[in-house]
Parts: sequence; C-alpha cells; structure tokens
Amino acid sequence: MTPSSDLVGILIEEHAILRGLLSFLDGPSSGVGATAQKDARVVYLELSDRIIRHEIAEELVVYPALLEICRDVGFADSVLHEHATIEDKLVVLDQLEYGSSEFERNRAELTGELLAHLDREEIQVFSILLSRLGRERHVEVAHRYRQVIRAAPLLSAQSRADLPTGPTVVARTSALAVWMRDVAHSTGLAG
Ligand SMILES: [Fe+2]
Ligand SMILES: [Fe+2]
Repeated sequence: MTPSSDLVGILIEEHAILRGLLSFLDGPSSGVGATAQKDARVVYLELSDRIIRHEIAEELVVYPALLEICRDVGFADSVLHEHATIEDKLVVLDQLEYGSSEFERNRAELTGELLAHLDREEIQVFSILLSRLGRERHVEVAHRYRQVIRAAPLLSAQSRADLPTGPTVVARTSALAVWMRDVAHSTGLAG
C-alpha cells in the first residue's frame, strides 16, 4: 500500500500535525509581542481549518466505513458526538476576539477535547480499521477521504493573516463545514 492510499497512515499523520500545531500555540514563544501574536493567530487559523476538514472528512467517509465493519452504532455515535462538540467549539471561537481571556478559555477547552478525541480514535477506531477493513476498501476510502479534505478551497497563510479578527469572521467554520458537506453529498463522495 502506498503512503497516499494508506487510510490509517493518512489519519495518523494528520493527527500528528494537529498535535504539533496545538503544542506550538501552547509553547513559550507563542503570543509574546505583537508579531508573535499575529503569527500565533495565523497558526490558530490553520489549526482550526485543519481540524474541521479532518473531522468532517472522517464523519462523511471514515465513520460510514467503520460502521460497515463494526456495527456498534452506539460506539460510532459517541465518537461522532465528540466531532459535534469540537465543531461547536470552533464556531464559538470564531465569534470571539482572538487572544481575549474568553477566547483563551475556550481554546484551552478545545485543546483538551481534541486531544482526548485524537487519543480515543488512535486507540479504539484505528485498530478496528486496521484489523477489519479490507485492503481494497482501505484504498478506496482513503481516495475519497483525500478528495473530501480538499472539497473547499484552501486559504493561504497570507489570506489567513489578512482575515479580520472577532465576530466579523463569525461564519468561517460554518461556511467551510457546509461547503464540504454539500460537495461530498452532491458528488457521491460521502457514505
Ligand atoms: Fe475524529
Ligand atoms: Fe481523527
């Protein structure tokens, strides 16, 4: 299996990128001084963009495949509920001024929820996919997953830096989520 068709390998790699961005934001050099604060905001916007793409692509492509081999609807629902909690938290963060105390409190909650979710998927979900999803399905699901991830246009780092802060970008996460779900359903990539 090539790296680009290794579903669990792709997911683990994306989890590592998310963990790296989270630890950068919680690191000692993040947010000290105006330039560092602006850089940290661009990193946060990249993080939030990657989170929503990853979780929605999992929801639309990976979890339906998981249900085919797992049949434990309660288990899948409980992990998908974590996706909904994370998406809700990102929408809340879109409405807050970056760097405010309320923003930082919600960002800390997001970090805790996301890390627990990544751990749970790596320990429980990925082991099921590795042991029970056939090789052909593995490749086919990986292919659709990569297409859904790219279903909405990517913002450059400069475009992220130019985004206004606070509630003027209230719909950023919601717009991305709606775009991805619409494209995935209308093109048959979902499910
Ligand atoms: Fe997930
Ligand atoms: Fe994941």
